[in-house]
Amino acid sequence: MEHLKRTHRCGDLSRSQAGEMVGVTGWVHRSRDHGGLIFVDVRDRSGIVQAVFSPDVDGNTFNMAKELRSEYVVALEGRLDLRPEGRINAALETGEVEIYVDRCEILNPARTPPFPINENTEVEEALRLQYRYLDLRRQMLQKSIAFRHRVVKAVRDFYDSRGFYEIETPVLTRSTPEGARDYLVPSRVNPGRFYALPQSPQLFKQLLMVGGMERYFQVVRCFRDEDLRADRQPEFTQVDVEMAFVDMEDVIQGTEEMLQYVIHTTLGIDVPLPFPRITYDESMLRYGTDRPDRRYGMEIYDLAGVFQGTGFRVFQEALASGVVRGFRVKGGGRFSRRELDETVARAQDLGASGLLWFVFEDEQVRSPTVKFLSEGELGRLRAVLDAVPGDLGLVVAGPEGVVAPVLGSLRVEMAARLDLRREGLGFTWVTDFPLLEFSEEEGKYVSVHHPFTAPRDADLPALEGSPGLVRAKSYDVVLNGVELGGGSIRIHKRGVQEQVFRALGMGDEEAREKFGYLLDAFEYGTPPHGGIALGLDRMVMLLNGNDSIRDVIAFPKTAKASCLMTGAPSPVGERQLRELHLRLT
Ligand code: AMO
Repeated sequence: MEHLKRTHRCGDLSRSQAGEMVGVTGWVHRSRDHGGLIFVDVRDRSGIVQAVFSPDVDGNTFNMAKELRSEYVVALEGRLDLRPEGRINAALETGEVEIYVDRCEILNPARTPPFPINENTEVEEALRLQYRYLDLRRQMLQKSIAFRHRVVKAVRDFYDSRGFYEIETPVLTRSTPEGARDYLVPSRVNPGRFYALPQSPQLFKQLLMVGGMERYFQVVRCFRDEDLRADRQPEFTQVDVEMAFVDMEDVIQGTEEMLQYVIHTTLGIDVPLPFPRITYDESMLRYGTDRPDRRYGMEIYDLAGVFQGTGFRVFQEALASGVVRGFRVKGGGRFSRRELDETVARAQDLGASGLLWFVFEDEQVRSPTVKFLSEGELGRLRAVLDAVPGDLGLVVAGPEGVVAPVLGSLRVEMAARLDLRREGLGFTWVTDFPLLEFSEEEGKYVSVHHPFTAPRDADLPALEGSPGLVRAKSYDVVLNGVELGGGSIRIHKRGVQEQVFRALGMGDEEAREKFGYLLDAFEYGTPPHGGIALGLDRMVMLLNGNDSIRDVIAFPKTAKASCLMTGAPSPVGERQLRELHLRLT
């Protein structure tokens, strides 16, 4: 028998084709046997259409309809009819029509799927990942994968229109440090040697600038062996950009215009430019984080002025070498004692030695700490926090490096708990990052971004004596409290790069061994250059309203970096190990 031909996509059928013979292909979404008639919803990527099987049309076809089960793959042919009045389904795009089936072909039967494809029920994620090819058929992923495609297309169109070349860079390469561990690939033909998968194309894009390409972008896979979270995957995609002969403002403006274009094209929303900016120091003070969600207030205040000369030991000690800071929770005065105790415990979990709470009443302040503080202090606290009766003040004292992030996390958690309005797209640039920060773990300075970020010219002399004070020509773009991207103006002079390597505790020998090719390149006419990389998965997640980047990646990995569908990573045979000159311990 001749195969039935698809003439239309299910979702495209409407009253305008009524009366025509149509052919559709797809999956059985749902079927209902109403005795005399059998109704089968057929689904393809475009949508769903109802097919009606009647014994009056063709006995064979009608019998075949009785066999159809969910997810069978079928081809149907018949006349498209307007539905009778009572059968119109306003909830379905194609709800005004139905196919009166003449002929039906079962292209492939299907086992009962391990979870329903035709409903948006909660399904355990492990099961969804194991049967990802079935999960992908569900509406949520159909939508998010299609949306991702449109975002990528818009990104490419934008950069193409601005004269950027998309250039691929190697995946088997040397280490490109971005603060994570490398994934290594052993070389069979070079015993004992390894490639590293790129944490980013950072050095290649800089070398493309040395190579005269001037404007580069790439939608590129990056690999990082790090602890995973909802917004982190071991392999993820960046929209990676580099430009020659630019300064910070050029990169920031170009990135804003790209985001505006992409959002306009995919969502029809016009985000106003320029995005607001905040310095790193201010962001750490007011939001306790370098990725502030500024769509709501609840800002953090420094309370040194309030408690200057206090008799309360905890604050005295904190102010001697650290800080006292806090924020106001509007209406938080209604929290029960237990809720307040839980909040204290949460602050301790986050690393604070304690959390002090103050409930502001008409005249009085209720707090376990109240007896240690003067009227004047409580009055000033109320004024600085701008508290009105019924509000709650949360205060943490201690080293700045502890207090800021604890308050930052509590602020975000409180906003979620109180269900504060956090709508719309809240973009912010964070600028003026420190170049380096001291890592207690490594006992030395490490790069806040990466070692190729340029220091501010004025700060260069401080690199030797007080490296912690040097500011970088770097910038992060934050969306709704998520770090969307980061970039910088790069070092393009050999001397400066060597100085930074030294500040990072890297000897000249080691620098030459690891990055000699870059240092050499700097001697052959390297233009000033800079760029940025945006996390594509995060961008799609936020614009599509998902909570996890796993929901916008076709085949994501679990928090343990494994693929539940293929079983990767998997053991390998003796022979392969031998060929690679590897022995397992
Ligand atoms: P950075 O390391 O900040 O910069 O990375 C840029 C953006 O990539 C995204 N991202 C991730 N997304 C998902 N999973 C991960 N594990 C992950 N890690 C990072 C984030 C982040 O903002 N070469 C520099 C850029 C530059 O200087 O031009 C770089 O890679 O959204």
